[in-house]
Amino acid sequence: PVLKELVGLSNLEEKIRRFYGLQKVVVVPGNCEESPLSKRELGKAGAKALLGVMHGGDVVAVTGGTTLAEMAEQLTYPLNGPLKGSWFVPARGGLGESLEIQANTIASNMAKRVGADYRLLHVPDLLSREAYESLVHDPNIQEIVREIRTARIIVHGIGNAVDMARRRKLDEETTSGLQEKGAVAESFGYYFDESGNVVHNMLTLGLRLDDIKAADVVLGIAGGKSKAKAIHAVLRFGQEDILVIDEAAALEIVRDL
Ligand code: BG6
Repeated sequence: PVLKELVGLSNLEEKIRRFYGLQKVVVVPGNCEESPLSKRELGKAGAKALLGVMHGGDVVAVTGGTTLAEMAEQLTYPLNGPLKGSWFVPARGGLGESLEIQANTIASNMAKRVGADYRLLHVPDLLSREAYESLVHDPNIQEIVREIRTARIIVHGIGNAVDMARRRKLDEETTSGLQEKGAVAESFGYYFDESGNVVHNMLTLGLRLDDIKAADVVLGIAGGKSKAKAIHAVLRFGQEDILVIDEAAALEIVRDL
Protein backbone atom coordinates (compact mmCIF):
# COMPACT_ATOMS: atom_id res chain seq x y z
CA PRO A 1 0.00 0.00 0.00
CA VAL A 2 2.90 2.40 0.71
CA LEU A 3 4.33 1.81 -2.75
CA LYS A 4 0.90 2.30 -4.30
CA GLU A 5 0.57 5.60 -2.48
CA LEU A 6 3.97 6.78 -3.68
CA VAL A 7 3.10 5.88 -7.28
CA GLY A 8 -0.13 7.83 -6.84
CA LEU A 9 1.75 10.90 -5.68
CA SER A 10 4.32 10.78 -8.44
CA ASN A 11 1.50 10.48 -10.99
CA LEU A 12 0.00 13.66 -9.59
CA GLU A 13 3.39 15.38 -9.71
CA GLU A 14 3.99 14.37 -13.30
CA LYS A 15 0.50 15.39 -14.49
CA ILE A 16 0.82 18.89 -13.04
CA ARG A 17 4.46 19.24 -14.09
CA ARG A 18 3.69 18.33 -17.68
CA PHE A 19 0.53 20.38 -17.98
CA TYR A 20 2.24 23.57 -16.81
CA GLY A 21 5.71 22.81 -18.18
CA LEU A 22 7.27 23.16 -14.74
CA GLN A 23 10.79 22.17 -13.83
CA LYS A 24 9.73 20.21 -10.78
CA VAL A 25 6.61 19.38 -8.79
CA VAL A 26 6.70 17.77 -5.37
CA VAL A 27 3.50 16.43 -3.77
CA VAL A 28 3.63 15.39 -0.11
CA PRO A 29 1.02 13.01 1.36
CA GLY A 30 -2.05 14.27 3.23
CA ASN A 31 -3.74 17.59 3.86
CA CYS A 32 -1.75 20.20 5.78
CA GLU A 33 -4.89 21.98 6.86
CA GLU A 34 -5.76 18.96 8.92
CA SER A 35 -2.41 17.56 9.89
CA PRO A 36 0.59 19.40 11.33
CA LEU A 37 2.66 16.40 10.28
CA SER A 38 1.69 16.99 6.68
CA LYS A 39 2.57 20.68 6.98
CA ARG A 40 5.96 19.69 8.36
CA GLU A 41 6.49 17.35 5.41
CA LEU A 42 5.56 20.20 3.08
CA GLY A 43 8.13 22.44 4.78
CA LYS A 44 10.75 19.72 4.54
CA ALA A 45 10.09 19.17 0.84
CA GLY A 46 10.29 22.92 0.23
CA ALA A 47 13.59 23.13 2.10
CA LYS A 48 15.02 20.25 0.06
CA ALA A 49 13.87 21.79 -3.22
CA LEU A 50 15.47 25.12 -2.30
CA LEU A 51 18.81 23.54 -1.33
CA GLY A 52 18.71 21.66 -4.63
CA VAL A 53 18.84 24.88 -6.66
CA MET A 54 20.83 27.22 -4.39
CA HIS A 55 24.49 27.98 -4.68
CA GLY A 56 26.99 30.50 -3.33
CA GLY A 57 26.36 34.09 -4.35
CA ASP A 58 22.61 33.75 -4.73
CA VAL A 59 20.09 36.35 -3.64
CA VAL A 60 16.97 34.54 -2.41
CA ALA A 61 13.82 36.60 -1.83
CA VAL A 62 11.24 35.07 0.51
CA THR A 63 7.68 35.94 1.48
CA GLY A 64 6.14 35.53 4.90
CA GLY A 65 3.46 33.11 6.05
CA THR A 66 3.05 30.03 8.19
CA THR A 67 4.13 27.71 5.38
CA LEU A 68 7.39 29.58 4.78
CA ALA A 69 7.96 29.64 8.55
CA GLU A 70 7.65 25.84 8.60
CA MET A 71 10.01 25.60 5.64
CA ALA A 72 12.61 27.73 7.47
CA GLU A 73 12.25 25.42 10.46
CA GLN A 74 13.00 22.39 8.26
CA LEU A 75 16.07 23.81 6.52
CA THR A 76 19.20 21.94 7.49
CA TYR A 77 22.82 22.92 7.21
CA PRO A 78 24.05 21.99 3.71
CA LEU A 79 26.23 18.85 3.64
CA ASN A 80 28.87 20.52 1.51
CA GLY A 81 29.30 23.53 3.77
CA PRO A 82 27.66 26.91 4.36
CA LEU A 83 26.16 28.90 1.51
CA LYS A 84 28.64 31.75 1.96
CA GLY A 85 28.13 34.87 -0.08
CA SER A 86 24.41 34.15 -0.48
CA TRP A 87 21.78 36.51 0.83
CA PHE A 88 18.23 36.01 2.02
CA VAL A 89 15.98 39.05 1.72
CA PRO A 90 12.24 39.68 2.18
CA ALA A 91 10.38 39.76 -1.14
CA ARG A 92 7.98 42.65 -0.67
CA GLY A 93 7.60 44.71 2.44
CA GLY A 94 8.71 42.72 5.40
CA LEU A 95 6.63 43.77 8.34
CA GLY A 96 2.90 43.43 8.82
CA GLU A 97 2.22 39.83 9.69
CA SER A 98 2.81 38.68 13.25
CA LEU A 99 6.52 38.56 14.03
CA GLU A 100 7.03 34.79 13.67
CA ILE A 101 5.71 34.73 10.13
CA GLN A 102 7.03 38.03 8.79
CA ALA A 103 9.18 37.89 5.69
CA ASN A 104 12.05 39.55 7.61
CA THR A 105 12.00 36.88 10.30
CA ILE A 106 11.87 34.13 7.72
CA ALA A 107 14.76 35.58 5.72
CA SER A 108 16.98 35.79 8.81
CA ASN A 109 16.01 32.32 10.07
CA MET A 110 16.66 30.70 6.72
CA ALA A 111 20.01 32.47 6.36
CA LYS A 112 21.20 31.35 9.79
CA ARG A 113 20.26 27.76 9.09
CA VAL A 114 22.31 27.47 5.93
CA GLY A 115 25.23 29.75 6.84
CA ALA A 116 24.19 32.54 4.48
CA ASP A 117 23.72 36.27 5.13
CA TYR A 118 20.53 38.29 5.23
CA ARG A 119 19.32 41.82 4.84
CA LEU A 120 16.04 43.15 6.14
CA LEU A 121 13.56 45.62 4.77
CA HIS A 122 11.98 47.70 7.48
CA VAL A 123 8.85 48.78 5.69
CA PRO A 124 5.30 47.45 6.16
CA ASP A 125 3.65 45.05 3.70
CA LEU A 126 1.09 47.71 2.98
CA LEU A 127 1.88 51.42 2.78
CA SER A 128 -0.17 54.57 2.54
CA ARG A 129 0.51 56.63 -0.58
CA GLU A 130 2.35 59.30 1.50
CA ALA A 131 4.50 56.76 3.33
CA TYR A 132 5.32 55.09 0.02
CA GLU A 133 6.36 58.37 -1.60
CA SER A 134 8.75 59.23 1.19
CA LEU A 135 10.23 55.74 1.65
CA VAL A 136 10.78 55.17 -2.05
CA HIS A 137 13.26 58.09 -2.06
CA ASP A 138 15.16 56.99 1.02
CA PRO A 139 18.73 56.03 -0.03
CA ASN A 140 19.06 53.15 2.48
CA ILE A 141 15.77 51.66 1.41
CA GLN A 142 16.64 52.16 -2.24
CA GLU A 143 19.82 50.18 -1.73
CA ILE A 144 18.14 47.14 -0.22
CA VAL A 145 15.27 47.29 -2.68
CA ARG A 146 17.80 47.26 -5.52
CA GLU A 147 19.31 44.09 -4.08
CA ILE A 148 15.92 42.44 -3.58
CA ARG A 149 15.08 43.14 -7.20
CA THR A 150 18.12 41.17 -8.39
CA ALA A 151 16.91 37.96 -6.66
CA ARG A 152 17.82 34.86 -8.66
CA ILE A 153 15.50 32.71 -6.57
CA ILE A 154 12.07 33.64 -5.20
CA VAL A 155 10.36 31.48 -2.60
CA HIS A 156 6.73 32.29 -1.91
CA GLY A 157 3.62 31.07 -0.16
CA ILE A 158 0.17 31.20 -1.72
CA GLY A 159 -3.02 32.21 0.05
CA ASN A 160 -6.73 32.58 -0.61
CA ALA A 161 -7.44 36.17 -1.63
CA VAL A 162 -10.12 36.88 0.95
CA ASP A 163 -8.27 35.12 3.79
CA MET A 164 -5.15 37.16 3.04
CA ALA A 165 -7.08 40.42 2.72
CA ARG A 166 -8.50 39.77 6.21
CA ARG A 167 -5.14 38.76 7.63
CA ARG A 168 -3.61 41.94 6.25
CA LYS A 169 -6.54 43.94 7.60
CA LEU A 170 -7.41 45.53 4.26
CA ASP A 171 -10.39 47.84 4.59
CA GLU A 172 -13.89 46.62 3.69
CA GLU A 173 -13.96 48.60 0.47
CA THR A 174 -10.73 47.11 -0.88
CA THR A 175 -11.78 43.63 0.20
CA SER A 176 -15.15 43.79 -1.52
CA GLY A 177 -13.43 45.35 -4.56
CA LEU A 178 -11.17 42.31 -4.68
CA GLN A 179 -14.17 40.00 -4.65
CA GLU A 180 -15.85 41.96 -7.43
CA LYS A 181 -12.72 41.61 -9.55
CA GLY A 182 -12.84 37.86 -8.97
CA ALA A 183 -9.64 37.64 -6.89
CA VAL A 184 -9.10 34.08 -5.66
CA ALA A 185 -5.40 34.02 -4.87
CA GLU A 186 -2.75 36.15 -3.20
CA SER A 187 0.96 35.82 -3.41
CA PHE A 188 3.83 38.27 -2.79
CA GLY A 189 1.30 41.07 -2.34
CA TYR A 190 -0.35 40.52 -5.71
CA TYR A 191 -3.93 39.32 -6.02
CA PHE A 192 -4.91 37.02 -8.92
CA ASP A 193 -8.21 35.99 -10.48
CA GLU A 194 -8.97 32.41 -11.50
CA SER A 195 -7.26 32.82 -14.87
CA GLY A 196 -4.06 34.06 -13.25
CA ASN A 197 -4.48 37.75 -14.11
CA VAL A 198 -3.23 40.24 -11.55
CA VAL A 199 -6.30 42.17 -10.36
CA HIS A 200 -4.81 44.07 -7.42
CA ASN A 201 -1.39 45.04 -6.22
CA MET A 202 -0.49 46.03 -2.69
CA LEU A 203 1.34 49.31 -2.38
CA THR A 204 4.69 48.35 -0.91
CA LEU A 205 8.37 48.16 -1.78
CA GLY A 206 10.43 45.25 -3.03
CA LEU A 207 9.94 42.82 -5.91
CA ARG A 208 7.84 43.86 -8.88
CA LEU A 209 6.11 41.66 -11.41
CA ASP A 210 8.97 42.16 -13.88
CA ASP A 211 11.47 40.90 -11.30
CA ILE A 212 9.37 37.80 -10.76
CA LYS A 213 9.36 37.22 -14.50
CA ALA A 214 13.12 37.76 -14.68
CA ALA A 215 14.03 35.46 -11.77
CA ASP A 216 15.73 32.15 -12.63
CA VAL A 217 13.80 30.09 -10.12
CA VAL A 218 10.35 30.81 -8.71
CA LEU A 219 9.49 28.27 -6.02
CA GLY A 220 5.90 28.21 -4.75
CA ILE A 221 4.94 26.27 -1.65
CA ALA A 222 1.42 25.82 -0.29
CA GLY A 223 -0.96 23.12 0.86
CA GLY A 224 -4.51 22.38 1.91
CA LYS A 225 -7.64 21.48 -0.01
CA SER A 226 -9.07 24.97 0.48
CA LYS A 227 -6.01 26.50 -1.22
CA ALA A 228 -6.35 24.44 -4.41
CA LYS A 229 -8.14 27.19 -6.34
CA ALA A 230 -5.58 29.78 -5.25
CA ILE A 231 -2.64 27.55 -6.17
CA HIS A 232 -4.22 26.84 -9.52
CA ALA A 233 -4.67 30.56 -10.23
CA VAL A 234 -0.99 31.21 -9.48
CA LEU A 235 -0.03 28.34 -11.81
CA ARG A 236 -2.04 30.00 -14.57
CA PHE A 237 -0.14 33.23 -13.91
CA GLY A 238 2.64 31.16 -15.41
CA GLN A 239 5.84 32.16 -13.61
CA GLU A 240 6.28 29.10 -11.42
CA ASP A 241 9.31 26.81 -11.90
CA ILE A 242 9.11 24.60 -8.85
CA LEU A 243 5.88 23.78 -7.04
CA VAL A 244 5.69 22.09 -3.65
CA ILE A 245 2.14 21.21 -2.57
CA ASP A 246 0.23 18.56 -0.65
CA GLU A 247 -1.90 15.70 -1.90
CA ALA A 248 -5.19 17.38 -0.92
CA ALA A 249 -4.44 20.40 -3.14
CA ALA A 250 -2.94 18.28 -5.94
CA LEU A 251 -6.06 16.10 -6.23
CA GLU A 252 -8.23 19.19 -6.71
CA ILE A 253 -5.83 20.73 -9.21
CA VAL A 254 -5.66 17.67 -11.49
CA ARG A 255 -9.44 17.45 -11.47
CA ASP A 256 -9.39 20.87 -13.11
CA LEU A 257 -6.78 20.21 -15.81
C1 BG6 B 1 2.17 35.75 3.08
C2 BG6 B 1 2.86 35.82 1.77
O1 BG6 B 1 2.99 36.21 4.09
O2 BG6 B 1 1.78 34.40 3.29
C3 BG6 B 1 1.92 35.41 0.72
O3 BG6 B 1 3.34 37.12 1.49
C4 BG6 B 1 1.20 34.11 0.99
O4 BG6 B 1 2.62 35.33 -0.49
C5 BG6 B 1 0.79 33.93 2.42
O5 BG6 B 1 0.05 34.08 0.20
C6 BG6 B 1 0.47 32.49 2.74
O6 BG6 B 1 0.41 32.29 4.13
P1 BG6 B 1 0.27 30.87 4.82
O7 BG6 B 1 0.27 31.18 6.29
O8 BG6 B 1 -1.03 30.31 4.35
O9 BG6 B 1 1.45 30.07 4.41
